Amino acid sequence: MAAQRTFSIIKPDATERNLTGAINAVIEKAGLRIIGQRRIQMTRAQAERFYGVHRERPFFGELVDFMVSGPVVVQVLEGDDAVAKYRDVMGATNPAQAADGTIRKLFAKSIGENSVHGSDSAENAALEIAQFFSEADIAG
Ligand code: CMP
Repeated sequence: MAAQRTFSIIKPDATERNLTGAINAVIEKAGLRIIGQRRIQMTRAQAERFYGVHRERPFFGELVDFMVSGPVVVQVLEGDDAVAKYRDVMGATNPAQAADGTIRKLFAKSIGENSVHGSDSAENAALEIAQFFSEADIAG
């Protein structure tokens, strides 16, 4: 299979606990390459746009508040079947249901403060990457 890209966010609950390196180690051990990475303070407008699909959900306000509560690390990951592979590596959205060895089982605090985001499709990965990276900031 040709190399595929996915988009990842290391969320504020993880940066606050200094877990960027520990999470990156899990990502790299799974065979994914970090080909773009930037630590940023997301603006409310960026977070609302990024999670726009969830705008009508009851947790939307809480989700946006959380994503702007501290720095995040936005990443482009590359590898065979990267979208599905990273979703496996992250584990279930709710850490209580996440499999052993997954990032969320290892590090997440709750369904909201769940340490990482990963794209759910190749199409969304391309859209999400474009929100935070130009091609000049990605080197595979
Ligand atoms: P993520 O993969 O970033 O995409 C949407 C996010 O919404 C999800 O991870 C969770 O962090 C968050 N989320 C989903 N369900 C809930 C919930 N019930 N309460 C708070 N946040 C939620």
